Amino acid sequence: MTTATRPAEAPLVHAVNVMKSFHGNEVLKGIDLDVRRGEVVVLLGPSGSGKTTFLRCINQLETIDGGRIWVDGDLMGYADKGGQLYRLTDKQIAAQRRDIGMCFQRFNLFPHKTALENVMEAPVQVKGVKKKDARKRGIELLERVGLGDKPAAYPAQLSGGQQQRVAIARALAMDPKLMLFDEPTSALDPELVGEVLAVMRELAASGMTMIVVTHEMGFARDVADEVVFMDGGVVVEQGPPSEVIGNPRHPRTKDFLRRMRAEEEEQAEAVAAALSVVQANIAGTGDEAGDAKATDPAAPADATPATTPSEPPAERSGD
Ligand SMILES: Nc1ncnc2c1ncn2[C@@H]1O[C@H](COP(=O)(O)OP(=O)(O)OP(=O)(O)O)[C@@H](O)[C@H]1O
Ligand SMILES: [Mg+2]
Repeated sequence: MTTATRPAEAPLVHAVNVMKSFHGNEVLKGIDLDVRRGEVVVLLGPSGSGKTTFLRCINQLETIDGGRIWVDGDLMGYADKGGQLYRLTDKQIAAQRRDIGMCFQRFNLFPHKTALENVMEAPVQVKGVKKKDARKRGIELLERVGLGDKPAAYPAQLSGGQQQRVAIARALAMDPKLMLFDEPTSALDPELVGEVLAVMRELAASGMTMIVVTHEMGFARDVADEVVFMDGGVVVEQGPPSEVIGNPRHPRTKDFLRRMRAEEEEQAEAVAAALSVVQANIAGTGDEAGDAKATDPAAPADATPATTPSEPPAERSGD
């Protein structure tokens, strides 16, 4: 543990020298991060760099091995009595976690509950809010995420983008001080990414403090106040998006961004190729309905194109 003390003007999140290992594998090697109130921080980094682990440490889904994390002045997971740290009880930790909303790649909605019931669940069960009040607030929140017409829909009746928006409304129902997003759009079909990013943009504009792990560079460029590039469990580079994305200094950041751009270009090419197959099919089926060979003489009779409209070529859009 470090000897760092709370700064006079505490940011909402103040993380100092955070360390975490799994079975001797050092995953976080001393992360420092400050997030001011109302600020949006985007965490970038290659797979395995520790982004998810860091979010899970902030939210105490993982216990840290070294360093300290304060959220709104509360030392997470511990009480500091004269420099000596005492682990809080599970109940005290649950109370700290209540103020932090989290949205994951997988939405984890209750499948047997409607959208509205999913949003009402935690305020009623955890905070003891009256059902009538929770319902009213739940409807407001569903409206806020553009789902005012879907309170009675079950998750299976909603698209991935709609389910993720319900998940955001569910997190907001607890009135969090801080929202953590871990690749909230990476499991979505490309055409559904924009609607979730739009909700996140609105949330950011409303003043919510957010830490967002995402590969959506457009979102990072437009919305982030600060971009943090992590690699190998350390912060390699951080600053405003115009610097970290627009003019990266560190070779590892440059290399990562180059690879991201190459991926984006590959995706754009795949989309263009898929589009031309679709257009060729449409043009061909105008006269010779049902005869696929008419549009593509090279295709075997039983072949389907490698990429079809129902099988999106890419997981992500370029925002
Ligand atoms: N519960 C765990 N037990 C053991 N190792 C773990 C555990 N969670 C994470 N790790 C390891 O920690 C490292 C960092 O993982 P983490 O999920 O934080 O990376 P990430 O930056 O979020 O990657 P990605 O972009 O793929 O999501 C990886 O090597 C991972 O295998
Ligand atoms: Mg991750």
